[in-house]
Amino acid sequence: MGKPSTKRDWSQIYVIYGMEQWQTLLFLLLHAVFFSSMSVLFLLYFDPICAYIEATLLSSAAWARFAAGFAGCVTALSAVCLFYAAGNFFYSALPLHHDMAQRIVGAVSDWSTVKNALDLGCGRGILLNAVATQLKKTGSSGRVVGLAQCKRTALSTLRTANMEGVQEYVTCREGDARRLPFPDNYFDVVVSAGFVHTVGREHGHRTAEAAGERMRVVGELVRVLKPGGVGVVWDMGHAAEYVRRLQELRMEDIRVSERVTAFMMSSHIVSFAKPSEHVVGLGEVRLDWR
Ligand SMILES: C[S@@+](CC[C@H](N)C(=O)[O-])C[C@H]1O[C@@H](n2cnc3c(N)ncnc32)[C@H](O)[C@@H]1O
Repeated sequence: MGKPSTKRDWSQIYVIYGMEQWQTLLFLLLHAVFFSSMSVLFLLYFDPICAYIEATLLSSAAWARFAAGFAGCVTALSAVCLFYAAGNFFYSALPLHHDMAQRIVGAVSDWSTVKNALDLGCGRGILLNAVATQLKKTGSSGRVVGLAQCKRTALSTLRTANMEGVQEYVTCREGDARRLPFPDNYFDVVVSAGFVHTVGREHGHRTAEAAGERMRVVGELVRVLKPGGVGVVWDMGHAAEYVRRLQELRMEDIRVSERVTAFMMSSHIVSFAKPSEHVVGLGEVRLDWR
């Protein structure tokens, strides 16, 4: 899976796309600062803390020192883990997301022939705009549709497309990825980044219901893809499940990228092609991919 060389400064990406789920980042940072302060306090006031533990909780000085040392180590380690998690969250949400969008674009060999592309769960439009930029670069007359769950997202996505100078290549459509508002066999390319694993989350991550919802999205993705079309999905945690479903749907050329850690989870790019025609039985051609 190739990667076009479009290195950009993360601050530039931040100015355009801002930070989705900034509350999570803030939560992690505040806790990291809290635990760091606690560990500094343990370091500065170790003896008084030991004396306090000895007087109130444990009668032995040695056990009090051990307890204070242990608590100090745990708070320091927690602070390091929380800073790491905050850093990884920030990196995943912006620079890595942008990088993966370039890799997804690079997984499609020829954009010049693409007429219709779809980005499922387009969010702020990092991937959507990467696709639009590629269409613009190759001089294609194609367009990319971003599917957003609500009108507000769609409007802010169009704003980012404007800032990237690709607004004429982008449209946004409100809808649910589990029931795509598009006809069968319509798109030449369907892409998605960091989205499918969020579908069905209300049922819990590891439940059969959530897996069923994700599979519906994969089924819909395949349904709207033209025979001969290409699908590329970057997602967290469920690559094996997508591959199984794509195999069941008899997709071709299924590829899985190496593991990339994103949002503290393992993520992969899964790409595939929809066969030009698929013979199920003797002379029977299946055209309904749901
Ligand atoms: C994490 S963002 C995806 C980021 C985006 N792909 C990008 O490259 O910037 C997930 C997006 O999917 C949208 N979404 C969530 N559930 C959806 C659903 N069932 N159908 C369509 N979109 C959905 C959310 O509104 C959110 O904007």
